[in-house]
Amino acid sequence: MKLTRRDFLSGAGKVTGGLAMGIMVLPVVESCLPTSAPIAPLIASNPVGPDGKVAVDVSDLTPSHPFKTASGITGPDGMGVLVTLTNGVYHAFSQRCTHASCPVDSQLAGSNIHCSCHNSNFALDGTVLSGPAPSPLVPYNTTYDATAQVLHIKLV
Ligand code: FES
Repeated sequence: MKLTRRDFLSGAGKVTGGLAMGIMVLPVVESCLPTSAPIAPLIASNPVGPDGKVAVDVSDLTPSHPFKTASGITGPDGMGVLVTLTNGVYHAFSQRCTHASCPVDSQLAGSNIHCSCHNSNFALDGTVLSGPAPSPLVPYNTTYDATAQVLHIKLV
């Protein structure tokens, strides 16, 4: 096939037009690309190990300060995790009240765990002291590492 001058000029025009279009479109495409690292999702991420456990420092729990919510940890029910110390034993519970699933208060009411939704009260071992809650707080299995003063809580 013989290439004429007209064919050559026509092809060159197409290439030049494509380049010009690319030069004009490139800044628009670049402005749509992220300019920094992706933003982390706003989802609480539990430091759950491969064994399904989280480790919570309980060195701050004492008989006079026997209760806390485990910071940054969410249970499989989407609720916080409570950690208590009573009679020398550590416990971990879901923060979900067993009455109507409100989160129980994140601070003690006197020496009790209280639910402000309908005024249920629970002891530090999770048992119901006064209703309407029909059953104890849901416990998590735990193991205590006395050397590290860490409570391993099995969440999954
Ligand atoms: S949800 Fe807690 S007392 Fe009703």
